[in-house]
Amino acid sequence: MKEVVKIELNGEEIEVKKGATLLSIARERHVYIPTLCHNDALEPYGVCRMCLVEIEERGRMRVVTSCNYPAKEGLKVKTDTERVVLTRNVVIELLLARAPENEEIKKLAEFYGVKGGRLELVNDECILCGMCVRTCDEVVGVKALGFANRGIDRVPATPFMESSETCIGCGSCVYVCPTGYIKMRDENGKRYIENWKVELELSRCESCGAYIAPKRQLDYIRNLADLPEDFYNLCWNCR
Ligand code: SF4
Ligand code: FES
Repeated sequence: MKEVVKIELNGEEIEVKKGATLLSIARERHVYIPTLCHNDALEPYGVCRMCLVEIEERGRMRVVTSCNYPAKEGLKVKTDTERVVLTRNVVIELLLARAPENEEIKKLAEFYGVKGGRLELVNDECILCGMCVRTCDEVVGVKALGFANRGIDRVPATPFMESSETCIGCGSCVYVCPTGYIKMRDENGKRYIENWKVELELSRCESCGAYIAPKRQLDYIRNLADLPEDFYNLCWNCR
């Protein structure tokens, strides 16, 4: 059984599992903390800094990222102090400068009443949260993506920015991306993911002819799982 510790969350003393992240503890108690690089299916990453909270530990106050900060005995946590709000607003302003046209970032800025305009605009939809790269590695197990370049030129990319030989076209990166930066479309029997220069043939349902998934994705699953052949040859409706 996991060890239990006592912490304070917004002034309320609670018992929680030692080591549980402050974000998970807050969420269990319906305390809202915004996040942009967190997903329960992925290891905590701690880069977007949206999930800031203020903690008091051994008399010392500081702001930390709640998605990867573990609960410890005696910790006092506050989710909406002036320091948290000010720091979070700076983070939102930076995001707004990086992705000024992005609807998700604009909504976030509006929600928190943050106005842009003070910083030089980068105009990139990608906020470098790494969700696409991590999902491809940790959930799909393909590792088709990584980061290329440094500093302001850093981007998620396939190796050498070439058409990926390993991408199976599952679209997981598209679904997790919080900004809609990754563009995928199915057209004329092919799946295209423009960002990764991927063009993959789609497999058709042997019964109704509907497109099921990229052939490469089905082959990938076939190598991993012992599923009935119908899974690969028929669409969801005809199985
Ligand atoms: S492409 Fe999307 S998921 Fe990937 S790092 Fe950029 S914003 Fe995050
Ligand atoms: S959600 Fe914690 S740093 Fe992004």
